[in-house]
Amino acid sequence: MKIAMGCDHGGIVLKPAIVAELQKRGIEIADKGCFDGESVDYPDYALKVAESVASGECDKGVLMCGTGIGISIAANKVKGIRAAVCHDEFTAQMIAEHNCANIIALGGRIMSPETAAKLVGIWLDTPFGGGRHKNRIDKISAIEDKYFK
Ligand code: RB5
Repeated sequence: MKIAMGCDHGGIVLKPAIVAELQKRGIEIADKGCFDGESVDYPDYALKVAESVASGECDKGVLMCGTGIGISIAANKVKGIRAAVCHDEFTAQMIAEHNCANIIALGGRIMSPETAAKLVGIWLDTPFGGGRHKNRIDKISAIEDKYFK
C-alpha cells in the first residue's frame, strides 16, 4: 500500500508520529509537504494529496491542518475523493466502515500526535462495511457525476 501525506503549518506537528505508524506497518509514503512550520495555504496540499489518490498513484491519503476541516473541504473538491475528518476512535472507525473514506483528515490543534497516529491505525484496520453503505457511496458518486465536469 502507498499513502500520500499532506499538511499545512497547523497540522505538521502530527506528521512524525503518523509517519512512524505507517512505517511500522511497512506502508510506502509519498510526502507531498509541507516540510516546515512556515505559514502555507492548506488547499495547495489538499490538492496534491487528493490528486495522487484520485489518479491511483496512491491508495489512500492522510491530510493534516489545524482542525482537519479546511483541508478536507478542499480535498473533497476532487472527483472520487471522500476525505473525512475524525476526532476520536469511534469516528476513525466510522469513516472507514460507513463512509469508505479514502483520505483521513486530522487536526494538529485539537489532538496529540499519539492520538492522531492511533486514529490512522484504526482507519486503516477497519474494513468498509459494504451493503447499505455501498448504496450510499454510490449515491455520492452519482452526485459527482451530475455536478463535476
Ligand atoms: C491555519 O491557520 C488554519 O486555518 C488551518 O490549519 C486549518 O485549521 C483550516 O481549516
